[in-house]
Amino acid sequence: MNRKKGMGMLKGSGWALLLMLMMMLSVGKMTASSEEEECENRWIHIRKLPSRFNLDLLANCSEYLMLDDLCPYLGNHGLGQKTHNRSRSWYRTDPSMLELVFHRRMLEYPCLTQDPMRAKAIYLPYYAGLDALRYLYGSESNFSALHGLHLFHFLQQDNPQIWARHMAHDHFLVMARPAWDFSQPLTNDPPFWGTSFLELPQFFNLTALTLEARAWPWQEHAVPYPTSFHPLNLGLLESWITRVRRSKRSILALFAGGGGGGGGGSSSPNIRRSIRSECENATSDPSYEKLCEIVDCSNGVCEHDPVRFMRPMLQASFCLQPPGDTPTRRSTFDSILAGCIPVFFEDLSAKSQYGWHLPENEFEDFSVSIPKEEVVFKGLRILNVLQRIPRSKVRSLRKRVLALIPNVLYRKHDSSPGLKAKKDAFDLAIDGTLDKIRSRVQELHSVI
Ligand SMILES: *[C@@H]1O[C@H](CO)[C@@H](O)[C@H](O)[C@H]1NC(C)=O
Ligand SMILES: *[C@@H]1O[C@H](CO)[C@@H](O)[C@H](O)[C@H]1NC(C)=O
Ligand SMILES: *[C@@H]1O[C@H](CO)[C@@H](O)[C@H](O)[C@H]1NC(C)=O
Ligand SMILES: *[C@@H]1O[C@H](CO)[C@@H](O)[C@H](O)[C@H]1NC(C)=O
Ligand SMILES: *[C@@H]1O[C@H](CO)[C@@H](O)[C@H](O)[C@H]1NC(C)=O
Repeated sequence: MNRKKGMGMLKGSGWALLLMLMMMLSVGKMTASSEEEECENRWIHIRKLPSRFNLDLLANCSEYLMLDDLCPYLGNHGLGQKTHNRSRSWYRTDPSMLELVFHRRMLEYPCLTQDPMRAKAIYLPYYAGLDALRYLYGSESNFSALHGLHLFHFLQQDNPQIWARHMAHDHFLVMARPAWDFSQPLTNDPPFWGTSFLELPQFFNLTALTLEARAWPWQEHAVPYPTSFHPLNLGLLESWITRVRRSKRSILALFAGGGGGGGGGSSSPNIRRSIRSECENATSDPSYEKLCEIVDCSNGVCEHDPVRFMRPMLQASFCLQPPGDTPTRRSTFDSILAGCIPVFFEDLSAKSQYGWHLPENEFEDFSVSIPKEEVVFKGLRILNVLQRIPRSKVRSLRKRVLALIPNVLYRKHDSSPGLKAKKDAFDLAIDGTLDKIRSRVQELHSVI
């Protein structure tokens, strides 16, 4: 039944048509001269790719093995369904849809050019993470070194001068998974996890926007996980920020997530286990109704249900962001949205990842850092550390967190001019990408 619904939603070329229409509307909005000024050094060309590289992957949304039906998450150009009918800004967003969300936003980027030779950057609207599913989970799992080669061959055959002009140093794409999922050495195949997209020499020069970068990234740069909040205008954003600012913080520390429980997993010490046991044994403090709370998100119950964790996050001063399967978490961005000060346990969780969105040299102004080794092996108590932070410092931390909200959210496509004037996660990703490409291309031609 779901399958039918999904296919119906994408029936025929409705999608392609809509995308094209949006593109035509957005080009030519500005007068020629102000456009020239604003867009100097910012022109981007969207490479035309056959539908097998994007729209067909959406049409197959119910066919991916070992995964839920992805079709419900495609709605609203990848934002997902609204959390409920009367909600205006809240969606059941799946972060793996960033490829689609980003593509939709690219179509309204003000400095698009049809002429690839004029462009400073070339965007490849290839849904790399969705295409990776058949290698990660599906029938191609023994051929994960092939991921991306079909794209490379296409780019070599169709107008190859576009790729060749700067040896692909000006090309970029979005890969809405951690880079780790695309970094398998070419000679490894099952039982090892991951495709080899980022290991292929053919792709060494392009820029990939991922949800998490490797410790020593070359091609990729991390961009924020999409949260569930996608306002359409400035009023909706401002009323949310007002609510966040006024919210009474009656809980000192909150952890929303899974893991660290008794059953199943290994019994080796880890940071999630430490959090759980400290939280369960927390005593009281006259300044807070509760010292510590855990929102149990095991088995993915929170993934598409933001109310479960946003309500408690609004009531907490600090939100604990321990590493899990990988160092980064979507929850970091949910907590910023809720004005809940993030607490990190290693630099790879955010500090060394999201430099375009969360300035690396300002981390101590909006977050708390507690090395996980101190907690797990030396008995440092997280709650004690947080209790000792003076009230005035907590206030200034929260003020900085609130100031970050507009920069980490992905606003809804076609939002109002007032909201467009603020840089959101997409805008900052584009700025960062253009800077990175500019220096790469300069370097390339200065060497020659
Ligand atoms: C979509 O699914 C069909 C049937 O499983 C498969 O044959 C086809 O190759 C898939 N298309 C893409 C673009 O993955
Ligand atoms: C939401 O709206 C749709 C269409 O307008 C309607 O079919 C559906 O029943 C509504 N759902 C709820 C929970 O009200
Ligand atoms: C992958 O290869 C292994 C070993 O050669 C084989 O047992 C397995 O069935 C293959 N998997 C697929 C999906 O073809
Ligand atoms: C990547 O760029 C280098 C120069 O920086 C060049 O030698 C190499 O051939 C390029 N690779 C591809 C696949 O274009
Ligand atoms: C804390 O609680 C856990 C049970 O959740 C218990 O096993 C542990 O011994 C307690 N630790 C301390 C330091 O009280």
